[in-house]
Amino acid sequence: MAAKRVVFLGPPGAGKGTQAKRVVEALGLKHLSTGDVLREEVARGSALGLKAKGFMDRGELVPDQLIIDMVSGRIAGATGFLLDGFPRTVGQAEALEKITALDAVVTIDLSRDEVVRRLAARRVCRACGGIFNLTFNLNEGETACPACGGELYQRDDDTPAVIENRYDVYERSTAPLVAYYRERGLLRRVRGDVGTDGVFEEILRLLTA
Ligand code: AP5
Repeated sequence: MAAKRVVFLGPPGAGKGTQAKRVVEALGLKHLSTGDVLREEVARGSALGLKAKGFMDRGELVPDQLIIDMVSGRIAGATGFLLDGFPRTVGQAEALEKITALDAVVTIDLSRDEVVRRLAARRVCRACGGIFNLTFNLNEGETACPACGGELYQRDDDTPAVIENRYDVYERSTAPLVAYYRERGLLRRVRGDVGTDGVFEEILRLLTA
């Protein structure tokens, strides 16, 4: 039977968001990206957004309790979900364990060099949230989303110094979750340095095995 309660781990730019959009469609899951929710809160100027913005701009993690409160309300009652970008610390993983059991944790591996290269070339659509890259599905100078015509933009945290810091933060705070979930028998490991279709097929195979 297909996994219904899924977590995606992996460094910044590994392809979590790109794959999450396809996997939730294929398996009928609810997609919860903590990064997307935080960016919406920042754009709305909410109390949470105001607290989170400085951490996000520096590529630091937003404090655990703010994130745990934000997530718990959003997955309560969901029968199938894909958590993209949560948990990111052992504290968040322990809190999640009290809220729900999991079926699988997929970690997408990608080297620092490839992360830096990819994120410098990422563009995102303000209207539909589509994720693109100047290296393979956008042309330099293209400003309209190929999917919906919305405005493409570069994320504030996709600058070289902040990308490097996000990778450091990943190694320090989030990478320990790989061992954490391996010990619990939940970990599924995927290479992120193959094309998007190849990564998708491998994830689907692991989640439906
Ligand atoms: P968040 O938005 O979660 O950022 P992230 O984890 O750094 O991940 P990204 O969204 O940058 O990358 P991705 O893996 O989704 O890659 P994508 O699919 O876009 O978090 C942002 C910030 O919010 C954090 O820094 C923190 O401050 C805060 N935050 C969020 N969650 C938090 C939490 N739980 N606790 C505390 N703070 C939290 O792909 C990247 C690029 O690569 C794209 O251009 C894409 O087209 C391309 N690409 C994708 N797959 C491939 C492939 N196979 N081959 C070639 N190119 C590819």
